[in-house]
Amino acid sequence: MTREPKAITSLQNERVKAIRALEMRKVRKETGLFVAEGASILITAREHGFVPQTLVYRAGSADSGVARGLVTWALKEGAECLEASEAVLAKLASKDNPQAMLAVFRQRFVPPPDKPKRDDVWVALEEVRDPGNLGTIIRTADAVGAAGVILVGTSCDPYARECVRATMGSIFAVPLVRTTREAFLTSCMSWRGDIVGTHLDAHEDFRRASYRAPTLLVMGSEGPGMSEEVAKACTRLVKIPMAGQLDSLNLAVATALVLYQIRGAGLSL
Ligand SMILES: C[S@@+](CC[C@H](N)C(=O)[O-])C[C@H]1O[C@@H](n2cnc3c(N)ncnc32)[C@H](O)[C@@H]1O
Repeated sequence: MTREPKAITSLQNERVKAIRALEMRKVRKETGLFVAEGASILITAREHGFVPQTLVYRAGSADSGVARGLVTWALKEGAECLEASEAVLAKLASKDNPQAMLAVFRQRFVPPPDKPKRDDVWVALEEVRDPGNLGTIIRTADAVGAAGVILVGTSCDPYARECVRATMGSIFAVPLVRTTREAFLTSCMSWRGDIVGTHLDAHEDFRRASYRAPTLLVMGSEGPGMSEEVAKACTRLVKIPMAGQLDSLNLAVATALVLYQIRGAGLSL
C-alpha cells in the first residue's frame, strides 16, 4: 500500500531524534540501521535493490525531477517519507556538506566467501581504523569490480556517516564481510589462489609479482600495520617501493595501487 508523506517541523519529534541517534555507533549496532545522504547515493541504493526504511527530504524540494522520482519510489516501496522543515533537515544532515535528502537503510553483511569464483579479487583489511580510508577502499573495490571487502578483527564501522559518504554510493554495491582474526586465519587455509599481503618488510615489488587467481589482497592496519599471524597466512608479501624517507603510504592509496595491479590485464573497463 502506498503511504503518504508526513510533514515534520518539530526538532523534538521522535522520528527526528531516532534518526539523529544513528550518528552513534552503539545505536547503529543495536538497530542495524544507517543513514545515507544525497540524491545520487540514494539512486545507487535503488539500483542495488536497497529499500529505505525512512526517506527525509526538505519541504518543497521534491516537487519535480530526480527528487520526486525518489520519493515516489520510496512511497511505493512502503517507506516512511518525511517532508522536513529547513531546521529539521539541518539537524539531521551532515554539517559540512548538507543534502536536501537522506534516508535510513538496513545494514547488510554477507557471509565470508566460501567458494570464490575463478576471477574473484577480495580485499581483506585487518583492523582498519579510519572510516574515510574504509569508504575510499570500498569505492575503489567497486571501481575494479572486486567481489567484496572483508573486515578482519576490530574495525571501524563501515556504516558510519563519514565512511558511507566516502564510498559515494559504493556502500550499496560492494558486499561486506565481518570476521574475527581467528576465523579469517582458518578461512585462509582453504583459499585456492594467492593471498597477497602488502607489507613494508616485503622484498617483492608489487609491480613485478604475478597474482594467482582467485586473489585475496590483505592490508594491514593504519597504525600497527599487519599482525604477524596474518602476514604468515599470506602466500606472498609485496611492497610498494617509495623514494622518500616516509614510513608508508596511506592505507587507501596503497590498496588502490595494488588492486589495480592485480586486476591489471584482466580488467576491461
Ligand atoms: C599506513 S600503513 C601502516 C604502517 C605501519 N606503521 C606498518 O608498519 O605497517 C597501512 C598498511 O598499508 C599497506 N602499505 C602502506 N604502504 C605500503 C608500502 N609502501 N608497501 C607495502 N604496503 C604498504 C600495508 O598493508 C600497511 O600495513
